[in-house]
Amino acid sequence: MMVSDDKKVALITGASKGIGRAAAVAAARLGYDFFLTGRDVAGLEETAALVRKASSVSSGEKFGCGEGPFIALHSEDLSRSDSAERLFDAFSGSFERLDLLINNAGTVNPKNTEDYSAEDWDSVMNINARTPFFLMQKSIPMLKAADPGFIINIGSVVSHKGYENQALYSASKHALLGYTKAVARELRDMNIRIHVVSPGGVDTDLIRGVRPDIDTTDLISPADIAETIMFLLQMKGNAMIDEIEIRRRTKLPWD
Ligand SMILES: NC(=O)c1ccc[n+]([C@@H]2O[C@H](COP(=O)([O-])OP(=O)(O)OC[C@H]3O[C@@H](n4cnc5c(N)ncnc54)[C@H](OP(=O)(O)O)[C@@H]3O)[C@@H](O)[C@H]2O)c1
Repeated sequence: MMVSDDKKVALITGASKGIGRAAAVAAARLGYDFFLTGRDVAGLEETAALVRKASSVSSGEKFGCGEGPFIALHSEDLSRSDSAERLFDAFSGSFERLDLLINNAGTVNPKNTEDYSAEDWDSVMNINARTPFFLMQKSIPMLKAADPGFIINIGSVVSHKGYENQALYSASKHALLGYTKAVARELRDMNIRIHVVSPGGVDTDLIRGVRPDIDTTDLISPADIAETIMFLLQMKGNAMIDEIEIRRRTKLPWD
């Protein structure tokens, strides 16, 4: 089914939980239709229900009524080398426009460097760097037609740093940041606003998997990251932010 092109459309990867889910729920109040991806279909369905709820609250508050968003769910394993192509084919089969791409899906696979296999390298790099790059590339023609188009790439503190047992994660997030800098220059006259949001520890399954020892009480909430994204989506005028780094309040400032 092809969706009518009068509403803005957001494509969010890794929307089945965590930061991607929070971003979708927050973006509901900006009136988007959605193409949400992940592997966990039940998780995506739960996100869709939360998005509908947030959208009805927001449109009810503003207008006294409201048509809910159209939400397409798509299950795709982004570790495949052809994931971006498969995902974008599915997207463009349903939507004629794209206003916002959030490259959010990510994985860590923590290991000692001596234990990583070539398959580990390919998988982490495909999910965190290759697929987002080619999704961005495929999105550019539609984003050029948006007013404005947005690309939000989710980086990490390890876009700048390197932590033990996270060599592949760090490599992939450095790559994401590096190519975003180049692409942002290429797109600067095309009315496409491109940002990297680089958080420290956020309270999601990802950090619990990597750091089972971590004190979760001082972690950043996914909703806080989503509100940062909302701020970027609503910026107008001549101000432009390339990257927002977000640390836990309990961490050392400027560290
Ligand atoms: N949590 C943190 O402390 C933290 C800090 C800095 C940056 N980040 C970044 O934030 C982003 C979101 O992570 P999160 O913290 O929200 O983690 P999360 O709750 O574990 O969510 C990760 C998301 O990525 C998707 N994903 C993972 N592997 C995938 C694959 N092979 N194919 C398709 N989708 C896949 C997952 O979907 P399925 O499971 O449904 O496949 C899920 O929706 C990541 O890019 C991460 O690097 C997180």
